[in-house]
Amino acid sequence: MADEARAPAADLWSQWLLHGRYAQDAEFQKAVHLLVDRYVERVLDGGQLAAGQVLVDVGTGEGLVAFRAIERVGASLRAWLTDISKPMLHHAETQAAERGVRSQCTFVRCPADHLDGIPDSSADVVVTRSVLAYVLDKTAALREFHRVLKPGGRISLAEPVYQDDALAASAMRSVIQSNPPDRVSPMTVLLHRWKAAQYPDTEERILASPIANYSERDMIRFAQAAGFTELHLELHIDTLPSIVRSWDVFINSSPHPLAPPLSTIMSQQFTAEERQLFERTMRPVIEDPKAVTTDRMLYLTAKKPFG
Ligand SMILES: C[S@@+](CC[C@H](N)C(=O)[O-])C[C@H]1O[C@@H](n2cnc3c(N)ncnc32)[C@H](O)[C@@H]1O
Repeated sequence: MADEARAPAADLWSQWLLHGRYAQDAEFQKAVHLLVDRYVERVLDGGQLAAGQVLVDVGTGEGLVAFRAIERVGASLRAWLTDISKPMLHHAETQAAERGVRSQCTFVRCPADHLDGIPDSSADVVVTRSVLAYVLDKTAALREFHRVLKPGGRISLAEPVYQDDALAASAMRSVIQSNPPDRVSPMTVLLHRWKAAQYPDTEERILASPIANYSERDMIRFAQAAGFTELHLELHIDTLPSIVRSWDVFINSSPHPLAPPLSTIMSQQFTAEERQLFERTMRPVIEDPKAVTTDRMLYLTAKKPFG
């Protein structure tokens, strides 16, 4: 059985998933969990799991999707939990033991596009949540999902759509580059510096970046190229009351594991004067009780055809 005392050293993924994303704020952590739980329920609704089936949860992280699937279906479900991160797999295995479901789970350290050890045509459902966003070749990963599924098996996935953020950063870059410096507001320059540290901001970088090289329509194309049929994709754009309630949370959280928090960007790339201007302008916006955030999430279900 896994033992937290022998936990492998933290990596980028465990650092963000278990600590960084919460900005050391309990209220924010609770709000993040509520959002994530909603995504997980939708993914499992799309998976249509039944008793006695075999599930693969790709990029399991803390194991949230797989453990919720076991809660829903019960003791007859068998689950493969995969991840590239050793500390996250260790964490998930510890959680499985604590939940009393360790015997239903098999843990495999592998990338999403090489599901090593999972036999061909062996799974009923492959689920993944916020993982393909970090895989450059999404079609290759979807081909692996197709390989391990039984004919008639299903995929159900939820992925954030960050391309709009990258395009916004790219538009700011164009404004800055195509105008004389005295025609560009200092805040535009700072907003661009912030966004460009978290998202690719040129066409070339967008195409080379796993987090931005797809739109929801591309995801349909990737799944079709991997051999799936009966595709159903929903893009959910929700404008929600912001869960970031304080300046501290705003500067110390980051939107995805590959993005540095704003506090790091400010300390590395802003002068003291720029930091003051940025805070003076942005703090009232962030701490406005009516502040909203826009959440873009795609949900895709599809089937591996018979024959
Ligand atoms: C944002 S977390 C999502 C975790 C989990 N699916 C959930 O819903 O809570 C992304 C996860 O994908 C894993 N990951 C990143 N790149 C991967 C890859 N190429 N193949 C497999 N897993 C990957 C990370 O280690 C991390 O656990």
